[in-house]
Amino acid sequence: MESGGLTIPCDILVFGGTGDLALHKLLPALYHLFREARLNPAVRVIALARRNLPRIDYLKLAERHCRAQIARSDFDEEVWQRFSARVDYFPMDASQSADFGRLARYLGEPGGLTRIFYLATAPNLFVPIANHLRIAGLADTEARIVLEKPIGHSLESATAINEAIGTVFEERQVFRIDHYLGKETVQNLMALRFANALLEPVWRNNQVDHVQISVCETLGVENRGAYYDRAGAIRDMLQNHLLQLLCLVAMEPPAQFEAEAVRDEKVKILRALKPITGQDVQDKTVRGQYGAGRIGGQEVPAYYFEKDVDNDSDTETFVAIEAHIDNWRWAGVPFYLRTGKRMARRASQIVIQFKPVPHELFSGGQVNQLLIQLQPDERISLRMMTKSPGKGMRLEPVDLDLNLAQVFSQTRRWEAYERLLLDVLEGDSTLFMRRDEVEAAWAWVDPIIKGCEEHFQAPRPYPAGSFGPEQANSLLARHGRHWHG
Ligand code: BG6
Repeated sequence: MESGGLTIPCDILVFGGTGDLALHKLLPALYHLFREARLNPAVRVIALARRNLPRIDYLKLAERHCRAQIARSDFDEEVWQRFSARVDYFPMDASQSADFGRLARYLGEPGGLTRIFYLATAPNLFVPIANHLRIAGLADTEARIVLEKPIGHSLESATAINEAIGTVFEERQVFRIDHYLGKETVQNLMALRFANALLEPVWRNNQVDHVQISVCETLGVENRGAYYDRAGAIRDMLQNHLLQLLCLVAMEPPAQFEAEAVRDEKVKILRALKPITGQDVQDKTVRGQYGAGRIGGQEVPAYYFEKDVDNDSDTETFVAIEAHIDNWRWAGVPFYLRTGKRMARRASQIVIQFKPVPHELFSGGQVNQLLIQLQPDERISLRMMTKSPGKGMRLEPVDLDLNLAQVFSQTRRWEAYERLLLDVLEGDSTLFMRRDEVEAAWAWVDPIIKGCEEHFQAPRPYPAGSFGPEQANSLLARHGRHWHG
């Protein structure tokens, strides 16, 4: 997958060009790729949005955001000048077909340039944009379209989007982004599992007691209240990022490290997830919503006081779930998934908790645990039981710790979007979600959302700066388990 060479010559058209995603993530990522001479010199970046800005003003906006996002040591004035010379701004209304005619005239004949349409917009614009591109003759067989999550808000809406996009673009041209797949440690999970023979024999139900996948954030909903209040943690995080992590932990080794083989294995896991319906929704799911509290010593307001949020909202900002995978490898092993905003600390991690030794020789024995921490520090650590010095057999857990940032301290850590954008330019879909994956994930999540609605199960309150509602602890405690950290 690493080519190290130059990308194809292309026009990268970013719909939603004045939005947070474009300014905070995409432009800085493209700057880094440009600086590292990955982009073909013919690449142009064209930001598209409704605001009627002259190009020069857009560049000022872009520069301000890029300076804020890029480490000072990586921001080079001369490189920025050369990069920004490749950036243009085209004001247009993505819901107006006439504007696509103007866009086609502005772009002219492709002349060997591949067109990449990056839809950093609300999902309700995906289908209209794809249709307008087709009518304007811009959706040729070489073009690629990149869709940001969320793809829809239910199985039905996601299927409708996929159907409609599929009438304009072939599946090989569609790149559905889940930025978690672009994170170094997430890819490292595959290296860890499939390049280290010693893990394979223990990576199954006869050795693993349970798995925990947690994505805890300290941030609240920031300026995204309008979107978030309609989505909630289940749609925003569980349906995509957490299920993708679960797939990478649980999937069978693919025959090759290539797009179809990897995605075939992931989709098998999604389809093997035991449905959570009826009473199980109440027994195996805990939803929460943050109240006022303190984060890093600062008072923060309750969720329902956030900007653009309904003040009697029952949207969840936290969810914990006990999931099961009905297959030979994982039968009987609970996968506990948890994500929340305004939690005590930022930590995304996967914990593989192994079973105790079959016959305990020493008292006080704990059990082995493999911790894969994705953020804030990239670490892999294996908890081993050792004897503490002195007389007697007193056992202590000690961690074998692999700090990836330290090991690779000489190498700049790539942001997820750099890797993913480069993959789009190289036409490699391995780290993107295939249509059937997105739909299988919705098919599992939909009944959970419906179950919560039917049982009028209001989210449990938890104070900002905590680890979520107490009920999330009970989910594990009733089986003698507890959340890690
Ligand atoms: C996004 C969600 O997909 O992921 C956000 O919409 C969330 O609500 C973000 O904050 C978390 O991403 P990261 O990379 O900061 O863990």
